[in-house]
Amino acid sequence: MIIDHLDAPVPGSSLHPTLTGEAYTSAEVFEREQQEIFEKMWNCVLRADSIPSPGQWKTVTVGREEIIVVRTRKAGIKAYHNVCRHRGMRVCTSGDGKNKTLQCGYHAWTYALEGELVAAPNLTSMPDVDREQYGLKSVAVREWLGYVWVCLSDADQGEQPPSFEETVLGEVRTSFGAVESIDNYGIENLRCGESKTYDVAANWKLIIENFMECYHCATIHPELTEVIPEFADGLASQRANGEVHGASFGEQIRGFTVDGSDGVTEFPSIAPDQERKYYAITVKPQVFINTAPDQVIIHRMFPVSESRTIVVCDWLFLPEVVERVDAGELDVSKSVELFHRVNLQDFEACEQTQPSMSSRAYRSGGALVPSEHHIGEFHSWWTQRVEAGSAD
Ligand code: FES
Ligand SMILES: [Fe+2]
Repeated sequence: MIIDHLDAPVPGSSLHPTLTGEAYTSAEVFEREQQEIFEKMWNCVLRADSIPSPGQWKTVTVGREEIIVVRTRKAGIKAYHNVCRHRGMRVCTSGDGKNKTLQCGYHAWTYALEGELVAAPNLTSMPDVDREQYGLKSVAVREWLGYVWVCLSDADQGEQPPSFEETVLGEVRTSFGAVESIDNYGIENLRCGESKTYDVAANWKLIIENFMECYHCATIHPELTEVIPEFADGLASQRANGEVHGASFGEQIRGFTVDGSDGVTEFPSIAPDQERKYYAITVKPQVFINTAPDQVIIHRMFPVSESRTIVVCDWLFLPEVVERVDAGELDVSKSVELFHRVNLQDFEACEQTQPSMSSRAYRSGGALVPSEHHIGEFHSWWTQRVEAGSAD
């Protein structure tokens, strides 16, 4: 929904070219994206409170790698490649669990939660084995907004993770003005009231491009344009004339709900320009952050193939709201339903677009109208990263 405001015709051509169809259909391109984008940048993988106590772990797929994310006793949350250092079996063979140590099920090499090799059959008779060196291979971790972010940059190849401040926080600064503006929502202290997983038969870039524009809002989002009328003209803006701009609720709208009825308790410390406003941020390559006065909606994308993407969407509310929902005293279904419908509408459009990407009629791509020109910046960024990969 991020779009630059346009009051007058843009100079030059109205239509800009998109990427070619092949960018969305080629397995080879997808592999380069995995290597150059998802395996080198910061990925938001799970909620930190989904592994609340020491020993709890989950596995996640980032790029082409499977990663264990575990809460340790002494070192906070750590992440490792799910690859046994003995002969390579997956150490954790299910999606989640809770253990005092991480033990491989093949020959019982056993790793501390902090990663080092602590036990193995006959290990004492191999005193030269360096237990740190043969510990699980670790992956860079950050916690932000209550989520665990990981970066797979390859230390063995001399790679360092990109600066979290410059990349992730930099994106927030670009769309939100200042990182501090997002602090008003206190996202790290919110609780997840609902989470939905969508298995979308579309390339991940189609999903990002869809999120970045509102040219489609009037056509496919009747409920959203009712709540936020300025989206109906396709020119609602996060950055109007270079200024950060939230999209305002309609006059008769009481809350960010599917029918415009009252929402739930609002965040206590949002600024006046955040009241009755919706903001959206794209954090490349796989996160969307949406804020309303009483809920924050966060999407995480996990590309599976060139034509399939898993999207996990969380609806976050104040802890007391979620407590009341859990106690059966409060219903947030109307709040959740609004963006759930938006998701279904958007993903259906993406799925109806994906097959055309391999059509001869789209061989040289399509067109971006002026209110979509900023998608061209995303395409330039993408081309630069993927071409850097092909130059290797
Ligand atoms: S492969 Fe894990 S202990 Fe042998
Ligand atoms: Fe949409």
